Amino acid sequence: MNNAEQHDAFLDELGIGPVWKLRDSSASIATISHVAEIVPVPHVVMTVPAHIPVSDGLPRTLATDSLPNATTTLAPTATDMHQPISIVPATSIAVAEMDWTSLESTVAACRACQLCEGRANTVFGVGDQRAKWLFVGEGPGYQENLQGKPFVGPAGHLLDNILRALGMQRGENTYIANIVKCRPTDAQGKDRAPSPEEVAACLPYLKRQIALIQPEVIIALGKTAAVSLLDLNPETPVGQLRGKLHRYQSLPLVVTYHPAYLLRKPTEKSKTWEDLCLALRSM
Ligand code: URA
Repeated sequence: MNNAEQHDAFLDELGIGPVWKLRDSSASIATISHVAEIVPVPHVVMTVPAHIPVSDGLPRTLATDSLPNATTTLAPTATDMHQPISIVPATSIAVAEMDWTSLESTVAACRACQLCEGRANTVFGVGDQRAKWLFVGEGPGYQENLQGKPFVGPAGHLLDNILRALGMQRGENTYIANIVKCRPTDAQGKDRAPSPEEVAACLPYLKRQIALIQPEVIIALGKTAAVSLLDLNPETPVGQLRGKLHRYQSLPLVVTYHPAYLLRKPTEKSKTWEDLCLALRSM
């Protein structure tokens, strides 16, 4: 299989259509530099691969601005875990100067909002610390909370397929993180969107991760990631934000649908593919 055929096979696997082909079909999509040369080829395979369970929770909605907050630099101890939540204010300046090691241990010990009470693990983020691509989701779900890694449930499997379709894989030139590092749940124990206060408490950590990584492009997966990073009205629909190039500080940011939403609405996968082509073009 040549590169282009391999790429198409990935898209078939992913159920993404239409497939976008380079006029020069010998080139790989991962090396596109002139996206004006891309032409759409109608190809509608809108099925979810059988190995991907279509059971992730509803897309979450909220999030807002980025007030400073939180922290201590020590790893959590059993005693810490029983301390009341202590908001240590105005430490975002300290967070903004941390290296990876202190940032990660600070997140692991964080008690800046009530989400710390129900967590099994914080979910710091994974990947290449010099990645060109940064994918940002909303917050850990059930599996992520158990495993301490982002996007390891059903939505994560789809994200892995999306990465493969781009000629990439987790950890290689990609970093995956979330807006909040602890799992938000409702009274029934189901996933929910983080509250604006929870987002505000956690966002300095992601901002520091972005500053350390300095990615070439940020992909905001879903509304929470988009409105939090762009500091927009939390009610702004993803449909209004996708399809254009935004900036987080000076970095290009592309908004697309959350993989959990795509699992429920596979017909929207083609739009995500268009958004990823836009991201490629911005690099
Ligand atoms: N959804 C997210 O937004 N992030 C994860 O890590 C998993 C599911």
